[in-house]
Amino acid sequence: MTNPTLAIIVLILCTFSNGAKYKPNWNSLQTRPIPKWYDQAKIGIFIHWGVYSVPSFGSEWFWKHWKDGTDGYKDFMKQNYPPNFTYQDFGRYFTAEFFKPDEWAKQFKKSGAEYVILTTKHHEGFTMWPSTYSFGWNAMDIGPNRDIVAELSTAVRAQNLKFGAYYSLLEWYNPRYLADSNANFTTNNFVADKMYPELLELIETYKPDIIWADGEWTAPDTYWNSTNFLAWLYNESPVKDAVVADDRWGKGSLCKHGGVFTCQDGYNPKTLQKHKFENAVSLDKHSWGFRRNARLEDILSIEELITEVVQTVSCGGNIAINVGPTHYGKIPLIFQQRLSDLGSWLNVNGQSIKKTTPWKYQNDTLNSNVWYTQAKPAVYAISLKWPENNIVELGAVKELFGKHKPKVNLLGVKDQLTYKVTKKTVKITLPDKATVKSKWAYVLKIA
Ligand SMILES: *[C@@H]1O[C@H](CO)[C@@H](O)[C@H](O)[C@H]1NC(C)=O
Ligand SMILES: *[C@@H]1O[C@H](CO)[C@@H](O)[C@H](O)[C@H]1NC(C)=O
Ligand SMILES: *[C@@H]1O[C@H](CO)[C@@H](O)[C@H](O)[C@H]1NC(C)=O
Ligand SMILES: *[C@@H]1O[C@H](CO)[C@@H](O)[C@H](O)[C@H]1NC(C)=O
Repeated sequence: MTNPTLAIIVLILCTFSNGAKYKPNWNSLQTRPIPKWYDQAKIGIFIHWGVYSVPSFGSEWFWKHWKDGTDGYKDFMKQNYPPNFTYQDFGRYFTAEFFKPDEWAKQFKKSGAEYVILTTKHHEGFTMWPSTYSFGWNAMDIGPNRDIVAELSTAVRAQNLKFGAYYSLLEWYNPRYLADSNANFTTNNFVADKMYPELLELIETYKPDIIWADGEWTAPDTYWNSTNFLAWLYNESPVKDAVVADDRWGKGSLCKHGGVFTCQDGYNPKTLQKHKFENAVSLDKHSWGFRRNARLEDILSIEELITEVVQTVSCGGNIAINVGPTHYGKIPLIFQQRLSDLGSWLNVNGQSIKKTTPWKYQNDTLNSNVWYTQAKPAVYAISLKWPENNIVELGAVKELFGKHKPKVNLLGVKDQLTYKVTKKTVKITLPDKATVKSKWAYVLKIA
């Protein structure tokens, strides 16, 4: 062998090993760190919007419940729609005439969120962009006649927010998917001809910062081609360095494989987690999509929402707060109100949430209303209740009050607070509640 040939072979080998940093297996994929921007962001907005927003009854699982004969759905159709009306018929009533992506993006920005995840395709299979692989069943061909993914991603990025794409692997009633399913997933025509190329088209066209897979539970990850997909995503895709993936990549993969762990919906473990997680929580406790039959008590109160945010971040997680827009393109006012209130709370208290890390303790050892975060050198004690007699008593922070006498401040209040160190606790005296700007939860900065 001549030297030039050897040099070329060495060059080719080097190129290969550099290009393929991650191999298509879980052990290798798991070594990829979660991009830093995501850990620092803490709060995202989730949007469930699709054809199910037209019947807006029950939940975004409307089609499946109707076909399965779940109580109430057949009656709802019989009472409100002509006989033989199909789910596909809802498509043209998905009008989105009030959809103003810039207005949405500004509302999300004001809420204090740092990223926005849209259902680009839910289990119904309807794509919110003109997918080459979803002819006649996408937001350009029917309904809005608009490329929702393009419009929203552009508007969101103009507000300096990141854009994420939720994408359902399965499609309940796609005949190819059903054929694979009937063959116990020993065939994979649906993945080869539809899902896989469509997912690549989505990423290559819109370059999402998050890919939030779902609808994975029916089949193993080998059927969905998940490890090959993630190796491509991390090694070669246009978003390879900054993209964040979730953990929904096949039966048994939840809380185990992939990037960020979402575990079950509404995952709020209340203890420190070793692996980065996301608590995906809907403002409507019973549905992700908008439903007209919701009651006021089904909607998270601002106190409940802030509690979710604080507990999640204390334990090292991010929170994705879900809203369901209407078929005509507005975010219901009750959801707007919650997001706006969260924004005003964060305006005063945001430094105890954004860019923080978990502290040694997540919740106080004595005071069950208090949760902790830190941004060195400060430790933040976040109290979900205003204490009786204006005195907060804390156990876990005792060790910070040794020779070093830290300063204690209530965020949003200028004057330093006075405190008394006892044998086991620190008693901090708060100002008169009427003079305090913040509402709903109160943050003590100890530094
Ligand atoms: C509904 O469909 C059935 C079966 O295709 C047909 O016999 C019937 O006439 C249809 N009804 C209406 C009102 O179109
Ligand atoms: C379907 O495939 C799985 C393995 O992927 C196997 O465990 C199961 O027994 C199969 N079921 C049937 C009905 O063949
Ligand atoms: C699986 O992924 C590989 C690598 O990206 C690709 O070449 C192959 O076509 C995919 N197979 C299916 C069935 O999608
Ligand atoms: C809070 O901390 C204590 C230990 O100090 C623990 O026993 C308790 O379960 C923790 N979690 C919650 C949700 O209170």
